[in-house]
Amino acid sequence: MNYIDATDAPALRDGAIKLHGSAGFEGMRNAGRLAAECLDHLAPMVQPGVTTGALDDAARIFVLDHGALPATLGYRGYKHSLCTSINHVVCHGIPGDKPLKDGDILNIDVTVIVDGWHGDTSRMYAAGQPNRRAERLMDVTYDALMLGIAAAKPGNRTGDIGHAIQSFAENERYSIVEDFCGHGLGQLFHDSPNILHYGRPGEGEELRTGMFFTIEPMVNLGRPSVKILSDGWTAVTRDRKLTAQFEHSIGITETGCEIFTTSPVGLHKPYAA
Ligand code: MF3
Ligand code: CO
Ligand code: CO
Repeated sequence: MNYIDATDAPALRDGAIKLHGSAGFEGMRNAGRLAAECLDHLAPMVQPGVTTGALDDAARIFVLDHGALPATLGYRGYKHSLCTSINHVVCHGIPGDKPLKDGDILNIDVTVIVDGWHGDTSRMYAAGQPNRRAERLMDVTYDALMLGIAAAKPGNRTGDIGHAIQSFAENERYSIVEDFCGHGLGQLFHDSPNILHYGRPGEGEELRTGMFFTIEPMVNLGRPSVKILSDGWTAVTRDRKLTAQFEHSIGITETGCEIFTTSPVGLHKPYAA
């Protein structure tokens, strides 16, 4: 393989956990910022009566207008730029023509590709006024994500992240979805390591400076079990109770981690805006 082939070769998922340097951090900062700005851009549109298809159109246009690509468009046959997961939908809800109703809560998940780097993030939104149970579930899920992020530092292990998330959520009498996990990312969308949102301290892969991955806990009001609908994507809680999720893309630094997908305007909890 000559130099040109080597630099153009697509990154393959070979199981090894990649350790990135400053160029990778710069790439992820740009991708993460645009993903966060896309979620900021959608916030005022989330109102009763709007369809998730309209949100998807707005996201696609926003991302393309910024010279980037929606990573989910065409990914494994997925045809949309967002996942929109309403009420009891855990994740991978498909945008469509059903209008949001007052009090609906939903997760909007976007992944953008900027100069080859993937920025993947999701937040909870509400159409109109969510009820107190829904608000509390969303608050706890956000705090669970941030506690997981606080455990993401060199020398810790992936199990320390999962344990921080699970012990907090279960102490609030919620349950953690075990069927989906966070994932390495960078020049690939889904790479190693898997980041489980449950676990025991000291278990799993050791975290090292330069690792990039997402943390994206799904927290249920009821039981943890989920099923996939016949569309092959939509994951719902089996007991049809409410569920919530937040997601950030992060990079491990020498002292802790850098969050690539922070909202530049502080809209980290759009439902509370
Ligand atoms: N963004 C999702 C994640 O957090 C993946 C969505 S894949 C799709 O990993 F095809 F469902 F869009
Ligand atoms: Co993700
Ligand atoms: Co995502």
